[in-house]
Amino acid sequence: MSQHFTITTPIYYVNDVPHIGHSYTTVAADVISRLHRMRGHEVFFLTGTDEHGQKVLEAANRRGVTPQQHTDELHLRFKNLWARLDVQYDAFVRTTDAKHQAVVRRVLQELHDRGEIYQATYAGWYSTAAERFWTEKDLIDGKCPDSGLPVEWVEEMNYFFKMGKYADQLRAWLEAHPDWVRPESRRNELIGALKKDVGDLCISRPKARMSWGIPLPFDEEYVTYVWFDALLNYVSAAGIHDDPVAFAKRWPADFQLLGKDILTTHTVYWGTMLFAMGLEPARCLYAHGWWTVEGQKMSKSLGNVVDPNLLVDAYGPDALRYVLMSEKGFGADGDFSHKAFLLRYNAELANDIGNLAHRAISMTEKWLGGVVPALDADRDEDRALSAASATAVSRFMECVDALDYRGAIEALVTLSSAGNKYVDSMGPWALNKAGDTARLAGVLRRTLELCRVVGTLITPFCPNKGAELLRRLSAGEPRLTDDLAQLDRLPEGGVLSLGDPLFPRLDELPPAIQAALEKASAGGALRSLQVNAPMPAAKAEKPAKAPKSPAKAAPAAPEVKMSETTTPATPASPEASAQIVYDDFAKVQLRAGRVVEAARHPNADRLLQLKVDVGEAEPRTIVAGIADRYAPEELVGLQVIVVVNLKPVKLRGVMSHGMLLAAGGEGVRAMVTTTAPVEPGTIIR
Ligand code: MSP
Repeated sequence: MSQHFTITTPIYYVNDVPHIGHSYTTVAADVISRLHRMRGHEVFFLTGTDEHGQKVLEAANRRGVTPQQHTDELHLRFKNLWARLDVQYDAFVRTTDAKHQAVVRRVLQELHDRGEIYQATYAGWYSTAAERFWTEKDLIDGKCPDSGLPVEWVEEMNYFFKMGKYADQLRAWLEAHPDWVRPESRRNELIGALKKDVGDLCISRPKARMSWGIPLPFDEEYVTYVWFDALLNYVSAAGIHDDPVAFAKRWPADFQLLGKDILTTHTVYWGTMLFAMGLEPARCLYAHGWWTVEGQKMSKSLGNVVDPNLLVDAYGPDALRYVLMSEKGFGADGDFSHKAFLLRYNAELANDIGNLAHRAISMTEKWLGGVVPALDADRDEDRALSAASATAVSRFMECVDALDYRGAIEALVTLSSAGNKYVDSMGPWALNKAGDTARLAGVLRRTLELCRVVGTLITPFCPNKGAELLRRLSAGEPRLTDDLAQLDRLPEGGVLSLGDPLFPRLDELPPAIQAALEKASAGGALRSLQVNAPMPAAKAEKPAKAPKSPAKAAPAAPEVKMSETTTPATPASPEASAQIVYDDFAKVQLRAGRVVEAARHPNADRLLQLKVDVGEAEPRTIVAGIADRYAPEELVGLQVIVVVNLKPVKLRGVMSHGMLLAAGGEGVRAMVTTTAPVEPGTIIR
């Protein structure tokens, strides 16, 4: 019997315009689902849309349509994007689905019947603008911290789920399951948060105030709080009530992917809800990091939301999937930049992987009739290539199983580079010239085999290009079999086909992206193209807390700190005037560069004249006063840090466009560099 694998994404707010953050989680789930399918496993990959709540109701009212009509239309933006990104989900749940609503009502009724839900007064400062309650200490000058508008003290009857009752069980679960919450940093945050009391959870909203929700089965004057409703999607779509056989295979899920901002709801709320329902939590909740855009928080008001549709138009789905999954570590925050996208596309997809495939197939076509040639006896270099293939495949698998997508792609690119180096050092052109056909055939066969391994591993990330490469090699369907890494699996005599380059090299940003960038900077967005901005605070989660009034109150649910960013403190000491705030520092734009040429300055002994690649179309000329410490030839190839927004100056007759960072005062002692190579143009902060 095949093994089962279940993975879920959060269900996205239907009002939101889908952006790269949503695409990131969904593509991550798709990549690992595809890998499991390639292993022959039975997969249940669930995604969907969150369709209830005040904002949806208001948006529908503004458009003059019913909320149902509104969500019927809007959820298609997500479905259409997933189709364009080749996301193969198994179920798409909408919280307005009749099946989901029936599950929510039945669960509520059962919990109510068992005394897990009770009625009490909910009291707090209510902001109509922000549609939420605040505590006294949240308020700023007595007003709503979100909208700045007045708040009113509201006391109303509501229903509460006895969340606090399960706090110890939750702590014990966390302790006993080290992999339950990942990455480790998020697990530690949760351990810290659970040291505080866990209160009960208000799970209702009076219909009089907010009607667009699932009515409580035991009191139709109320609708269900959106998070209680939304979290149940994971089991309603998996068939908890309508298909218990399938459900038994699908739950607990292997992975639930989520952004770091919704960790509390998925651990504290969802974990305790599952305990109350007599179910186990998923095996792993992975809270990934957030994307900023060109150094800034991505937000509608800044106008810098990156539309994945635009990237698909410009580069195709495969390149977008690949760059999203490789540009940052899964658990970490990362910055999306169009320039970095292009650099990675060219460096890895066009120049490395695409180039390997193109040269292997074209040389075989030119000299060996375009069919998979015969192997010759292994030599040391061939054995080294086989070893590199085995290492890369096992490293790749290790990484994907740990959701280390970037690590997996690194293993893949390392293998492709090893293939290119093998070709360079074996020199098939020389073997052809010398008429050594047996060796030529052996070398090209191994290179083609390596392309098969790379093509197979890249398929979950780039499903179209991966399958296309395997087709060109006559390699059949992509499958993750135990013999994948072996360099003798292609059918000898199989017909090869060259085709156009898989990933054509792009000399500049595609016109559609250029146009969008120009439009955005004309509108004042993408300020950070000139100046780096600090990392933003993550979106605050909006948990519904237990009542505040001491007579009826249960302790509030713990808050998990989601962001490391704090506002810089106002300087207090006398030296404070010499200190700068972050905004001052942020004016200095630093980039990684690579020295491509270095020569003595024609008119000054202490100066060197360098050409430094900072990721732009042309390297910059930079004049540096480092001739006392460095000979020009020592610097070529060195990774340096460049101040790129310094006004150009003429230094002894040569214009200098930037400055290099170096240690030392008057006398330079060492150049500042990075501990690992990064692409020229990478932002330094
Ligand atoms: N509807 C809730 C989830 C309910 S799940 C039972 C929700 N929706 S959301 O649309 O606001 O966010 C969905 C996901 O998108 C979250 O995991 C969130 O972290 C993620 N992202 C939103 N902006 C993001 C970035 N800028 N970067 C990466 N992911 C981001 O919350």
